[in-house]
Parts: sequence; C-alpha cells; structure tokens
Amino acid sequence: MNVEKIRADFPILSTTVYGKPLIYLDNGATTQKPKCVVEEIEKIYYTTNANVHRGVHHLSQVATDLAEESRIVVQQFINAEHSKEIIFTKGTTESINLVAHSFCQQFCSEGDEIIISAMEHHANIVSWQLQETIRGIKLRVIPINDKGELMLDEMKKLITPRTRLISVMHVSNVLGTINPIEEIVSIAHSHDIPVLIDAAQSVQHIEIDVQKLDCDFLVFSGHKLYGPNGVGVLYGKEKWLNQMPPYQGGGEMISQVSFKKTTFNDLPFKFEAGTPNYPDVIALAKAIDYIKSIGLDSIKAYEDQLLKYCTDELTKINNIRIFGTSDNKCSVVSFLVGNIHHYDMGMLLDKMGIAVRTGHHCAQPLMEELGIEGTVRASFAFYNTKEEIDKFIEGVKRVVTMFE
Ligand code: ALA
Repeated sequence: MNVEKIRADFPILSTTVYGKPLIYLDNGATTQKPKCVVEEIEKIYYTTNANVHRGVHHLSQVATDLAEESRIVVQQFINAEHSKEIIFTKGTTESINLVAHSFCQQFCSEGDEIIISAMEHHANIVSWQLQETIRGIKLRVIPINDKGELMLDEMKKLITPRTRLISVMHVSNVLGTINPIEEIVSIAHSHDIPVLIDAAQSVQHIEIDVQKLDCDFLVFSGHKLYGPNGVGVLYGKEKWLNQMPPYQGGGEMISQVSFKKTTFNDLPFKFEAGTPNYPDVIALAKAIDYIKSIGLDSIKAYEDQLLKYCTDELTKINNIRIFGTSDNKCSVVSFLVGNIHHYDMGMLLDKMGIAVRTGHHCAQPLMEELGIEGTVRASFAFYNTKEEIDKFIEGVKRVVTMFE
C-alpha cells in the first residue's frame, strides 16, 4: 500500500482545522471521498443527467445503463447470485427498515420473535421496535461478555419455534468486535431461521461473499464505503424478496395501476419506488472500483496494524478503559480516561485538528450495558498513518495533563 499516493486522491486530507493539519479518525461515522467519486458525480450532472427507466431519449438510456451497471458492480463486490437481489436504498437504516417492515408484514404475527444483539446500532433496534408496536412481535437480545463479544450459547437459548429472523451487526461501531457471522448463520439455518447482517461497519474493511456466507439479507451504506451519501444497499435472497410485499408505493415499483387493482413490478424495482438516487448509485460503483484497485486484503492488513499500534499506545495511558477487547476486532477503538468526559476529550482533540467521534454512537442500550454515557472513538481508514496515530496519542496525553 502506497499510503502517500492514496492520500493524494483525497483532497480533504490535505486541509487544516484551526491551522493544524486535519487528522481524520472518524471513519466509522463517514469516510472521505476520493476524487474519482466526486468527479463522477460532477460528470453525471454535467453530461448524463436524466431520469432513469423513464425515457426513450438518449440521456435517459445512458443514465439507465450506468445505474444498472452499478448494480452489477455491487453484485460482484459482495458476490450475490443475481443482480436483481441488489436493491438500492438511502442507506443502511432504510435497508433495515425495509426488511423490518416487509418481512414482518409477510412472515410475522403477534407473539413472533426477532433476535438482535446487545451491541446493535439504533437502526437495528428501533426498526424492529416499530414492528413490536405495529404487529406485536417480540425482540430477544443476545447478551455480550466482558470483552464485548456476542455470547452465542445464550443466542442458542433464545431460539424458539416463534423465532422468525436473527438480525446482527457484522462489526460493532463501538466495540470494533468482528462478530462470528458464519457461525450465527449456520446456527440460525439449522433452525430454518433467516439472518440479516448489518455490514455498515464491515464492508469497507472485510471481503464479503454473500453466497459463501449464505446470509439471507445484508445491508450497508455508500458513505462509509468512500462513496456518496444518500445511497445504500439491501442484498436479499431472491426467494425472500419475491415473497415480501413492497415497502413504499410510487413510480416504477408497479406493473399495472388502476383504481380497482394494482400489480407490482419484478425485482429489484418492486422495492425502488420513485425516482432513485441514480447519480449516487452510479458514483458508488466508482468507490467500489477504487477500493478494489487497492484490494480489501491489503486494506484489512494495513488497518489491523493501525488498530494494534493505536491500542497498544493507548493502553500505556494511566486510568484508560478500552471498551471492546476481543482478539477479533476491526478498525475501531473506543475508550475513556479517568473521569474525563468524552465530550471534553473530543472537543480538546478537535482544537488540535483531530476528528474523533464522542457520545453514545447510536448505541444507547450498549452504553447502558457498559454502565457509561458514551465513549471517545477513533476509527481508522486505509488513508490514515502511524504518524497521525502518534499525534492522536500525544493529543490524548495532552488532554489528560490538562485535567490533572
Ligand atoms: N453509525 C455511525 C457511527 O457509528 C454514524 O458513527
């Protein structure tokens, strides 16, 4: 990996904050965009802009072809069997809401159960809680151990004849734990239970093959994958998506509309009501091509080095608590030092040009479990460097000194 060359592709990394070089360690919240992605968006609006799937004119045909090529790029990226199993959404949150709504409408009745985990992001909690209210389903929660790992033996005990689906994150946005999703899928399938994987924090770090994994649904966002904001993906096995009713009504998701009876379009369009966000769908393919040109194996190996180095250096600081100490972690380190409030740490680091996330990270039930209000979180990307981590550690130590 030639990190200096890679950094030149991300103009924002050469900017300053309060006169200090930006050190961007908030990649779990969103990643920066390479020039090729931003230039693609500009190119689309300047040369190709037209609504997709709705025109016989040249521009509409070109835009439609590009958007559908992008679907194939995504299909190949996660190795889905069919491109029609790739549904474009606004992001991970909308993808989970879509499944929660349409899957529960088709397959769940009052008293049926959905299993999630104690470390989930609000998107994978509240979407199901809405279905608790609407359909009377019940949520069951897999507990975590002291290292921040899922307790699979406990998960097995939660499975009952009423379990309809298991929905878990691949990588925790707070703890960094890489969950054993292969094992979860295998346990679930031995009971004929489908599995949804929230890959929002993993697809940019770890190679995913949905056919090998055999998961039933997988969701992720473009903006955490060096792509545009406002576009995301729902992968679903054809057999499930075909049986599920549409999530939203509107243009393009229909086959025939009349006031007596409306019939719906085939996959994937049944789930893509209204004008899709085609410029960002097209630019997402550029982001994926960019990642592939570096290679996820190299990305993971490099980011693992950054994570290990940062964790080792943080561990040397007195009174530090690191949340998430699994041996199997990815790109995220969350911590608190002594009684220093996470916001104070975050704001003082910011004054040094260092961007980290602070707070509950949209995982309040996990915070409750950990007995804290929030953490400071540094999350890494392949464009970060060891020198940046040195400055971050120096920054954390300076804050600690201020509070002594
Ligand atoms: N879910 C994103 C994060 O963890 C926003 O920061």
